[in-house]
Amino acid sequence: PSNAPVATENRETWTSNTGFILAAVGSAVGLGNIWRFPGVAYESGGGAFMIPYLCALLTAGIPILFLDYAIGHRYRAAAPLAYRRIRKPAEALGWFQILLSFVIAVYYAAVIAWAMSYFVFAFDLSWGQDTLAFFVGDYLQVGDPEISTTIVPGIAIPLVITWVAVLIAIALGVAKGVEKVNVLFIPLLFVAFIGLVIRALTLPGALDGLTEFFTPDWAALGDLDVWIAAYSQIFFSLSIAFGIMVTYASFQRRKANMTSSGLVVAFANSSFELLAGIGVFATLGFMAHQQSTQVSELEGLTGPILSFVTFPAVINEMPGGTIFGVVFFASLIMAGFTSIISILLGVAASVGEKFGLGWRTSAVSVSAVCAVLSIGLFSTTSGLIALDTVDQFANNVGIVLSAIVMTVLLVWVYRRGELLRQHLNAVSTFKVGKWWIVLIGFVGPVFLVIMLVQKLVSLVS
Ligand code: PHE
Repeated sequence: PSNAPVATENRETWTSNTGFILAAVGSAVGLGNIWRFPGVAYESGGGAFMIPYLCALLTAGIPILFLDYAIGHRYRAAAPLAYRRIRKPAEALGWFQILLSFVIAVYYAAVIAWAMSYFVFAFDLSWGQDTLAFFVGDYLQVGDPEISTTIVPGIAIPLVITWVAVLIAIALGVAKGVEKVNVLFIPLLFVAFIGLVIRALTLPGALDGLTEFFTPDWAALGDLDVWIAAYSQIFFSLSIAFGIMVTYASFQRRKANMTSSGLVVAFANSSFELLAGIGVFATLGFMAHQQSTQVSELEGLTGPILSFVTFPAVINEMPGGTIFGVVFFASLIMAGFTSIISILLGVAASVGEKFGLGWRTSAVSVSAVCAVLSIGLFSTTSGLIALDTVDQFANNVGIVLSAIVMTVLLVWVYRRGELLRQHLNAVSTFKVGKWWIVLIGFVGPVFLVIMLVQKLVSLVS
């Protein structure tokens, strides 16, 4: 394809509503669903977490998803330019959101690269019996605690592959690149994942795992941190307030049923997330069964350790483990890839619109910068340390701040709530009532400010 500029007039569009929905689901369903959600839910009250989670989904998740869609669809540009079209100074908010997304992409790519390596290892279970020693020592080569800058080829190579693949998808553009990837990967991902969950549920001990996961710890509901965890999880998981859904919606045709699509996306995302929680804990139940212990006694139930240490250990034990492992890491790659290209599309389109560049030029430049950063940070032995810090900042503080500024600015300062509501209703069959403005203008910001203040206080003390 030509290196046509990222046009704001005669903008390229998704080829169909289904294409848009699949792409938006692709962005939403990612590593956040597979390895972030189960751990967060488990640590934040188990079954009781469903209450803050549902509250977050209904009071902030879906309303802000609609807001992102309304802005992108109405102002037809990636986040910075879309906000600029509302009021010039708001462009800064767009860049802040794009910066957050960019930061996430840098470490997200590292996890996809690990998944690629582990996909290969799964074929002959080459991680051996001591999967922790393998991950940290042999694979990541985290040696002594000193920060080292030696590039580890085993990580650098899949990272380069990831970035080249991302670059190609973005350079091909919205319909021929990103939409095609999602149309292929998303159905495949759902089928593969359902297969994994069914297998997990038929393992001995599965029920104990589920019991552990769903047993509610009601006391958790009184803990503000649990509520913050629920809101951050919803934002991260739905890819909202990152400027990414603004950008995706800007490529949607003018006649498009935006709110109904939003409901489909939100429902698909949460279902997938719940399914992941069930699958992961059923598998952990099996592991506890094998070791004749309790699920709660197991270590490494969350984060990267869950996928890259605990899961390989379970796979070793499982009849037919190889297939399970291959499908599991393939799912991680597909889920991660369809999310990271949404971020890069957002960044590339923003840069392209700002500097009048073509698709190919912006794709190459943005991916190159990202690639250098993520290779520099994550294929050296100091990667794991960086991951945690970055995740803390971007996901707990950065994104909540972004959502507050965005909703307050639009509803109270620029007073665009009603206009955007009418815009959504003009194109959609699911009509948005005044309740929407109450949620994004009042309920959401109040909750979020309380949480942010509490978070900052706890970080300082
Ligand atoms: N929603 C993705 C996930 O759950 C991550 C993501 C965040 C994608 C922000 C785009 C923007 O993994």
